[in-house]
Amino acid sequence: PGSESGAAAGGGEFGGRTLTSAAELPERFSTPLPIPPVKRPARTTADTDYYDITAREARVEILPGLRTAIMGYDGIFPGPTIATRRGRRTVLRYRNQLDVPTVVHLHGGHTPPESDGFPTDLVLPATGGARFAEQAVGGRTSTGTRDYTYPLDQRAATLWYHDHRMGFTGPQVWRGLAGFLLVTDDEEAALPLPRAERDIPLMIADRAFDADGSLRYPSMDPRLISMAGVDADHMAGAAGDVVLVNGAPWPELEVDAARYRFRILNASNARRYELALDPAPHGGGPFTQIGSDQGLLAAPLRHTTLPIAPAERFDVVVDFSGWPVGTRVTLTNRAGGGGTGQIMRFVVARRATDDSRIPARLSSIEPLPTASATRRPWMFRKGRVTSMGTDAAGWVINGREFDPRRVDAAPRLGEVEVWRLATDAYHPVHIHLSPFQVLSRDGGPPGPADHGWKDTIDLRPKQYADVAVRFDDYAGRYLLHCHNLEHEDMAMMATFRTGR
Ligand code: C2O
Ligand code: CU
Repeated sequence: PGSESGAAAGGGEFGGRTLTSAAELPERFSTPLPIPPVKRPARTTADTDYYDITAREARVEILPGLRTAIMGYDGIFPGPTIATRRGRRTVLRYRNQLDVPTVVHLHGGHTPPESDGFPTDLVLPATGGARFAEQAVGGRTSTGTRDYTYPLDQRAATLWYHDHRMGFTGPQVWRGLAGFLLVTDDEEAALPLPRAERDIPLMIADRAFDADGSLRYPSMDPRLISMAGVDADHMAGAAGDVVLVNGAPWPELEVDAARYRFRILNASNARRYELALDPAPHGGGPFTQIGSDQGLLAAPLRHTTLPIAPAERFDVVVDFSGWPVGTRVTLTNRAGGGGTGQIMRFVVARRATDDSRIPARLSSIEPLPTASATRRPWMFRKGRVTSMGTDAAGWVINGREFDPRRVDAAPRLGEVEVWRLATDAYHPVHIHLSPFQVLSRDGGPPGPADHGWKDTIDLRPKQYADVAVRFDDYAGRYLLHCHNLEHEDMAMMATFRTGR
C-alpha cells in the first residue's frame, strides 16, 4: 500500500537504496550552476524570428569525469533557451537527427493545433523512418524536419518545450529533450524586478545513472522496479537519486546580497518537490512568488515552502540581503529523502547595490465568469490499458485510455467551462492551449500556490479541484493529460476538440 505514490510523491528513496552507485555520486555543491545558452535566431523579419534547432545524440559531462549519452536539442541538456517578446511570431525549424520519432510541444504555448505537437504528429527520423509509420495513428507525420509556428500572442511567461511522442515521452524527456522558452511583454518589462544576470531560469530534474555514466531509466529496468518496491502494475513513474539543476548535479551559485528572480521549472518525469531555503532568512517567508505557470500574479505572495509538481513553474524573488555575507543557503526539498532532500546551494558572496523592487501590484487578473459555464468531470485514476496489443495496468481518464482517434470533449471557442479534475493518486494535470484559474480544491478555497493563471495543477491523492478555462481561439484537437510522464505514456491522456 502506498507504493504507487512513493516515487511520484518524492517521498522515499526507493526503499532506502540508491540507484546510482555511491562511487558515481558526485560531491554536492561542487559544480557551478550552468545557465542554458540563449539561442540566436537564424533569420529575423519584421514580425518573425526563425530558429534552427536540431535534436541529436551527444555525449556530455554530467557526473564529473564521466560521459553521458543524451538526446538533446542542439545536443545539450537543457536545450537552448529561446527568449522572445509577446506577439513575435516564433518559428522553430526543427530537425530530427535521432533514430527515433519525436514530437515537439511548447508547454504553456497558445498555439494553433498543427504546431501544438499532438503525440502522433511524428517527426520521423530522416532515414529508416518508415518503420515507425504505423505509430502515427491519425497524425500528420513529417520526415526529418518540421516547422513549428508559435504566434506567442500571450502574457509574459516561463514556457518550456519538450518531447511529446505517444508512448515514449517519459524516456525521451529523461534523456534530455527539454528546454526553456521565455516570453516577455511591455507590462512585465516596465516593472522594476531583478533582471539580466539576476533573472535566472532553474530547471530541476532528477535522474539516475549507471556506473559508466549513462542515464538509467528506472521504469524500464525490472530490477530497479522491484528495488523500488513498486510492482510494474502499479508504476509510480521514473525517479532518480541525483538532482540536476540546469543539467548539473546539486550545483552551486555565488550570489550578491541582493534580490534575484528565479524561474523555477520542475522538469522531472514524476517527482514533486517541496522547496525551502535552509537556513531561513531573517524576516521569514524566503520565497516571494511573483508569477505562476502563465506569468505574473496580480500581487506578490510570500511562501515559506513551495510545492512544485512536474511541469509547474514558479517565478519567485529571493532577497539574499536577508542573510549575512558568507552564508551558504541550501535550496532543499522537504518531500525528498537522502540526496533528493537537497537541490542546490547559494553562497552569498558580497554586498552589492540593488535597485530592483517588488511592486505591490504586478498585473491585473480578471476572474473568468463561471455562472453559466459548461461543467465537465475528469477522473484520473488507475485502470486497464489494452492498446498496442497489451493488456496491462495503466492510467486512465474517465475510465478510458488515450486513443488518438477519439475526441473526449468538444468545448466551444469563447465559452467558459468549469472542469472538475479528480484523482486517485498524485497526478499533475496539464491542459493544452489555454490557461486556467483554480476556483477551488475539495470544495474549499484554492491552495496557497494555486494563484494566477495556471496550465498545470498539483493534485494530491483523492483530491478534486475545479478550474475555469476558456479557449478563445484556434479550432482543432488538443490534449488534457497527467504530466507524470510515465502515467502519460501509460495512456493518461484525453483529446478535446475546440470549435464553434
Ligand atoms: Cu508539458 Cu502535453 O505537456
Ligand atoms: Cu498521473
